[in-house]
Amino acid sequence: MPSQRTILVFGGTGQTGRHLTDLALAAGHHVRVLARTPAKAGPPRAGLDVRRGSVTDDLDLDGLLDGVDSVVSLLGDVQAQRTAMVNTAFVRRLVPAMRRTGVRRFLYQAGALSAPPHGRLTPALWAIRNTVARSYDGQHRDNEAVMRYLADEAMDLQWMVHRAGIGSDGPSKGVLERTEGTPGIGTFRDCADYDLRLLDDPTAVHTTSLSAYRKRAGRTAGRTSAGV
Ligand SMILES: NC(=O)c1ccc[n+]([C@@H]2O[C@H](COP(=O)([O-])OP(=O)(O)OC[C@H]3O[C@@H](n4cnc5c(N)ncnc54)[C@H](OP(=O)(O)O)[C@@H]3O)[C@@H](O)[C@H]2O)c1
Repeated sequence: MPSQRTILVFGGTGQTGRHLTDLALAAGHHVRVLARTPAKAGPPRAGLDVRRGSVTDDLDLDGLLDGVDSVVSLLGDVQAQRTAMVNTAFVRRLVPAMRRTGVRRFLYQAGALSAPPHGRLTPALWAIRNTVARSYDGQHRDNEAVMRYLADEAMDLQWMVHRAGIGSDGPSKGVLERTEGTPGIGTFRDCADYDLRLLDDPTAVHTTSLSAYRKRAGRTAGRTSAGV
């Protein structure tokens, strides 16, 4: 991967996406964002290229992917995903376009309460999903279908999934790291920072791991129970 690259971001106007865009621009990358409402991407900035559109449109995906090094999906529409697999339908169109244009790397952010492909959530995470997080069930089912599609039909691409547990839009609480254990409750900013590091991590390819805060001497930053 070149140190300065062009990242195509879907969901760049969202809670994680705004931070990821800011952090990527600050790191010197070019960021191309597809936005339903371009004004939500903030003021024009050097390196930022905002294109209007919805992932449900008949998009010129090859044009969007032109010159791109890697793709990030931070998509979510809780309301729409209650009745339609919006992200799955889109990723099923995106992946062939990535193959056509030779773009190999793809990071998809799902949730800590989205079960890994052909795997299960722990009883504790299922309990949270079926109670306090019940209204997000459609989003998790959509995320799970995306992960199954990637695992079953897109192993030729260098994809990675972050099953994020997010609890607040507050300031940084520390550094998130990959874990197969108990997820941490991250901030949107810390998840965006983690996503950018994951994108460059060759050991993350074909993983669907959770994240948790790196332990400081004698303690763990942030709480370590499950977030949404
Ligand atoms: N929020 C949480 O607490 C949480 C926790 C854990 C994991 N996650 C996961 O992280 C991912 C992103 O979550 P988030 O909370 O950062 O997202 P979010 O704040 O809900 O933002 C979603 C983004 O997707 C965009 N989007 C939705 N439908 C679109 C469409 N049809 N065309 C183009 N763009 C569209 C939105 O654009 P607009 O600005 O136009 O709406 C927005 O930029 C999701 O997979 C979610 O499951 C979220």
